[in-house]
Amino acid sequence: RGMRIIVANTYEEMSKKAATIVASQVNLKPNSILGLATGGTPVGMYQELVKMYEDDEVDFSEVKSFNLDEYYPIDRTNDQSYYYYMKNNLFNHINISEDNINIPNGRAEDIEKECYEYDHKIYNSGGIDLQVLGIGTNGHIGFNEPDLTFESGTHKVKLDEETIKANSRFFDSIDEVPKEAISMGMKTIMQSKKIVLLANGEAKAKIIDKMLFGEISPNVPASILQLHPHVILILDKEAAEYI
Ligand code: GLP
Repeated sequence: RGMRIIVANTYEEMSKKAATIVASQVNLKPNSILGLATGGTPVGMYQELVKMYEDDEVDFSEVKSFNLDEYYPIDRTNDQSYYYYMKNNLFNHINISEDNINIPNGRAEDIEKECYEYDHKIYNSGGIDLQVLGIGTNGHIGFNEPDLTFESGTHKVKLDEETIKANSRFFDSIDEVPKEAISMGMKTIMQSKKIVLLANGEAKAKIIDKMLFGEISPNVPASILQLHPHVILILDKEAAEYI
């Protein structure tokens, strides 16, 4: 128990291992509540899951999902929204029911209400069985940016310059990256029964070392995972360089 670390040889191997863990969760408990992440890192994992679904190795008909975050403001139809990302990378290709998909609304008019209702829905579903996470180069998980305190519930965040710069690679120009986001909070993430965190590439090596061996601090949000009883960390060789 505690933190289990798996070092994969390649991005493909990391993605396959992660997909196998998600599929096993769903096979063991068909009505699992999955916490899902976006970003470049889990794209390969989603591809593997789609393959497994096509090969009849997993069935998502009873699964419920809650995504970690969404930009704010952003339209669902924007091809950089996390809604679009999830549809495009996973949901359009598997048999998850539309009613069971939850992603914060990037156009919510009443943000407080949106956040409150999102947390309530997670809580009422029984909580997250398996949360998939990536990690930002600054240690963020979801969009919980380095800060003086940990935010507990779903909340609106102002994105760091570093995050805006890192994510500008997906947009036509840096000016198009939204400055804010809605993110699940640390309490919700920490209450997940199991967590799988993925990281690949040398750009993540330093922060992985900090997260694992540094001080537990809201300045490195992912460091709090040192206190979680059931985390599986799947890295490729490059991201595991310093451990
Ligand atoms: C993004 C997301 C995170 C993600 C992280 C790393 O902005 N909000 O959920 O884990 O930053 O992204 P990437 O996988 O593209 O490196």
